Amino acid sequence: MNLIKEIQKFDDSQKVDNAFTPPASWYVEKSFLDLEKRAVFQNEWNFVGHLSDVQKEGDYFTGKLLNKPFVVLRKGEDVKAYYNICSHHGTCVARGKGKAEKLTCPYHGWEYSLEGKLKKIPKAGAIKEVHSKDLNLKEIPLKLIGPFIFLFFGGKAQEVSPKLLNFFEQGQYSGLHFIKRIEYEISCNWKVYVDNYLDGGYHVPHMHPGLSTQLDISSYKTEINETFSVQRCAGEASEVKGDEVQGRVEGEAEYTWVYPNFMINRYGKWMDTNWVIPINENRCKVVFDYFHEEKVEDVDDALKASEKVQLEDIDICDMVQTGLNSGVYDCGVYAPQFEAPMYSFHKLLKKSFLKELS
Ligand code: FES
Ligand SMILES: [Fe+2]
Repeated sequence: MNLIKEIQKFDDSQKVDNAFTPPASWYVEKSFLDLEKRAVFQNEWNFVGHLSDVQKEGDYFTGKLLNKPFVVLRKGEDVKAYYNICSHHGTCVARGKGKAEKLTCPYHGWEYSLEGKLKKIPKAGAIKEVHSKDLNLKEIPLKLIGPFIFLFFGGKAQEVSPKLLNFFEQGQYSGLHFIKRIEYEISCNWKVYVDNYLDGGYHVPHMHPGLSTQLDISSYKTEINETFSVQRCAGEASEVKGDEVQGRVEGEAEYTWVYPNFMINRYGKWMDTNWVIPINENRCKVVFDYFHEEKVEDVDDALKASEKVQLEDIDICDMVQTGLNSGVYDCGVYAPQFEAPMYSFHKLLKKSFLKELS
């Protein structure tokens, strides 16, 4: 497949009214995901977690993004990130999440300090003396954007847009209590899930009848910034119908997306974040983290409504991927009144692709 030709098929010079969406190849070809690993995920700051997970000395969490295992931890005032890879034979030194005074590799017991320094090699003998190689953990550039932790996996870390930093410094994202994490695996390319998020509410009345009774869809407004977009929608003062809508939207709902794969939803006292992780070209995982202004415990009813919306989205994303994989559909069109945020996502992708290939 000719990557450049497939990239150029998407003409981003048009107004959204006349534009066609990127071709299906972007969503079904492994070579596009390979390109995205380099062009997008290694060239952008990636959300990996929330500050509430590393509040006290030694708190840590681990994760993996596109084959790159990382550990994020608290050391004094700092939040640090390292590749979670032992310098001896490459084992992951930390597992899951927790609290530790040092990181001890489970394989042969090499010990690293919270600053990533190799401190102890059991039965080291002459190892230390002969090795001039740097055997410390490799640090990963880390940025806090509001309460969200972002890492940069590529070569030279880019500046974070000041506008994005300012946006998340508003108090409404910080100081919330973590409630619950729920993960979903979806049979679609990661971009199908993002596209669905960025359709400006177009699908809401059709796919989420429960949710749409709480939102005044006619009030939907979108704001498109360079690397993030915000969709806002007024809550409808509708009658609460059973647990379907309980405790969800009060006042305005705000849906923010940060290029490439991170969303933050704020409604009433709730916030949830959605982190979309590619698994392969036809599959992705979405990690939902729920937060609340209070330390609420009995949340199952409130989350039922959210779960229903997620299942509706999962179902439709699977159906989109089926069409994309058919070989019959190639480029689609945008609904101009709604889908400008999606068009801007596709433009950013094209820019990243061409930059990488130039
Ligand atoms: S691989 Fe970590 S101690 Fe051997
Ligand atoms: Fe949806």
